[in-house]
Amino acid sequence: MYTISRPASQTFPGSTLASGDDPDAPSALFFQSGYSTNVGIWSSFPQAGDLVLFDELIHASVHDGLRLGRIGRGAGAAKTFPHNDLRSLKRLIKEDLAEQEAKYIFRTIFVGVESVYSMEGDAAPIVALLDLIGTFDTGRIKLIVDEAHSMFVFGKGLTMPPYVTEEQASKVFARVVTFGKAPGVTGAAVVIPRYAKDYLVAHARPFIFTTAPTVFSVVAVENALDVLEDGRANAVSLSSDYSKAY
Ligand SMILES: Cc1ncc(COP(=O)(O)O)c(C=O)c1O
Repeated sequence: MYTISRPASQTFPGSTLASGDDPDAPSALFFQSGYSTNVGIWSSFPQAGDLVLFDELIHASVHDGLRLGRIGRGAGAAKTFPHNDLRSLKRLIKEDLAEQEAKYIFRTIFVGVESVYSMEGDAAPIVALLDLIGTFDTGRIKLIVDEAHSMFVFGKGLTMPPYVTEEQASKVFARVVTFGKAPGVTGAAVVIPRYAKDYLVAHARPFIFTTAPTVFSVVAVENALDVLEDGRANAVSLSSDYSKAY
């Protein structure tokens, strides 16, 4: 079984140019939309036997990705936890790690949340979530955050400084950034370590089996990002409602 794990450098394929060949280096893969990004990652990353835990209010595209993927066909499963309820999430993780230990098995646990929820308009407790995952002494819990509704409203998203520290930001396995909402253009990207990007290029069906995003979309996204970089897009400061979640 092909698992999502950091490859040993001597087996990592590709260039060994002086520019570096670090499989953990941050990279991104651009898709036509946030929908295809989520379907691509959620159908590709979890392997049969892995466990997916996601917030009950997660976007439809995550459900569709899981339906297309391998999860549920093996021993693993996809389960929801009540909205923003970290106690329930902690219990589910603990139970699963105990089962893994008892049965001498190893599986990856993927945790899926949005940083701001579209219907409720509330934020996920990202810092507490990162702290929670950090309390488990395993590298097998991978947090994936959909930043569709925080991009440009909260700078580059709530998983990025100044909302979290650099150290905390590095604990997020994948962040989905979409450009069709506040930025007002089209397209989306998943920001992930390079080894995971290489995996998606080879496995994500919505990336492989369709026409690439248009050059117009790429130019529009570049311009939108310039607006963000040069400070013309004023980030909304965390209101009392948002800060309550932290
Ligand atoms: C949380 C979330 N993720 C992803 C998407 C899909 O993004 P896009 O419109 O770029 O396909 C949406 C759109 O409604 C969304 O609300």
